[in-house]
Amino acid sequence: MSTHIGAQPGEIAETVLMPGDPLRAQFVAENWLSDVHQYNNVRGMLGFTGLWKGERISVQGSGMGMPSMAIYATELMRFFGVQRLIRIGSCGSMQSEIALRELILAVSASTNSAMNRSRFGGMDYAATASWNLLRKALAVVEEEGIPFHAGSILSSDTFYDDDPSQWKVWARHGVLAVEMEANQLYTLAARHGREALALLTVSDSLVQEKELSAQDRQTGFHQMVEVALEVARR
Ligand code: HPA
Repeated sequence: MSTHIGAQPGEIAETVLMPGDPLRAQFVAENWLSDVHQYNNVRGMLGFTGLWKGERISVQGSGMGMPSMAIYATELMRFFGVQRLIRIGSCGSMQSEIALRELILAVSASTNSAMNRSRFGGMDYAATASWNLLRKALAVVEEEGIPFHAGSILSSDTFYDDDPSQWKVWARHGVLAVEMEANQLYTLAARHGREALALLTVSDSLVQEKELSAQDRQTGFHQMVEVALEVARR
């Protein structure tokens, strides 16, 4: 057991899918995995291990925001030997050509968070996806003909900004979308010598001020889960 994950050694697979919402972890476990075993319910942050096409895979909620993600990612790697972490999340599009429901492969993640400023003594770190996972994801989406965008994203500490146009400076620098976790996932995976990738579906558009209905969110989520599971299996 670690502080926030009530699992025994060996209960968590080497590859872990990480949705923000613990109920989505349960949804993935119930709908895609077989021989499912729930290993965590500390703070309701559900975690499950099961089989997908014969491959042992876990799915663990990360919570929202980088401090929460950092706690779960660190414990998974430090105490449970997790080697590959694949975030499956949603994001807000910052570019007019990126539509609702589309899939984004987050090559790198800038941030407005102070977490890395503190870690790197005020210097900037380029938080980057693992090339190995990224190239596998690219192969899966190309083989399956799934439309996607690959590029940089912003991991923000805030969902509600005091200045609602602040995202535009990131957009002018080519950032595709905003979410709230990938920057710390990438930083911590690099720190532990492990692999990480964030796959994101576009749930809202900052450009068009539109968002998906709950029903439409599910559809995009399904396709992303299948890509993530296939990446995990390769
Ligand atoms: N901002 C931050 N995180 C998000 C958003 C957003 O607009 N959409 C989905 N995750």
